[in-house]
Amino acid sequence: MSIDDLRLTMKDILSKSRYLHVISTEEVSVDLAFIHGCDIEKARIAGVLHDCAKYLTNAELIEECKKYSLPITEAEAKSSQLLHAKVGAAHAEHLYNIKDEEILTAITYHTTGRPNMTLLEKITFTADYIEPNRKVIPRIDEIRKAAFDNLDYAIYLILENTIDYLKSTNSVMDDKTEMTYEYYKGIIQAV
Ligand SMILES: [Fe+2]
Ligand SMILES: [Fe+2]
Repeated sequence: MSIDDLRLTMKDILSKSRYLHVISTEEVSVDLAFIHGCDIEKARIAGVLHDCAKYLTNAELIEECKKYSLPITEAEAKSSQLLHAKVGAAHAEHLYNIKDEEILTAITYHTTGRPNMTLLEKITFTADYIEPNRKVIPRIDEIRKAAFDNLDYAIYLILENTIDYLKSTNSVMDDKTEMTYEYYKGIIQAV
């Protein structure tokens, strides 16, 4: 499928606001790839497809996990929307024929991150958070600036915000979010 066809498919299956978020994430991913020396086409595809399973209901996400034999963590069982990331990677591979492992892991880890992310994973994770259609986010100007100057610092700030938000709303947090935060905090402190 060409990138245009992938975009058209996303336009068909996602809500209008989600589609706008996706194409903005694509654009920011391309900018970040250019600045940080990552493969631009891979960043583009990961940006377009990162939320390709976001339209599914909780029950459908669980069903898709069974279909593709994807393990469900305790946090994912409690908060099934977390599953849109790994189901999205499975759909990218099986429905949209993306075989590139780097693109697939960028989709898998776009919500929680993971320690020691690849450059493409960092870019998708960050672009998803800083794209201009997002609602008001604390310290967003600082995070946007860091995304272009120091990606690890941007990731640290994003996770700090995410954890604060999840705690303040009493939401379920995936262990990986906390692990990733500790990992990037260590990197920032070591500099
Ligand atoms: Fe997402
Ligand atoms: Fe997203």
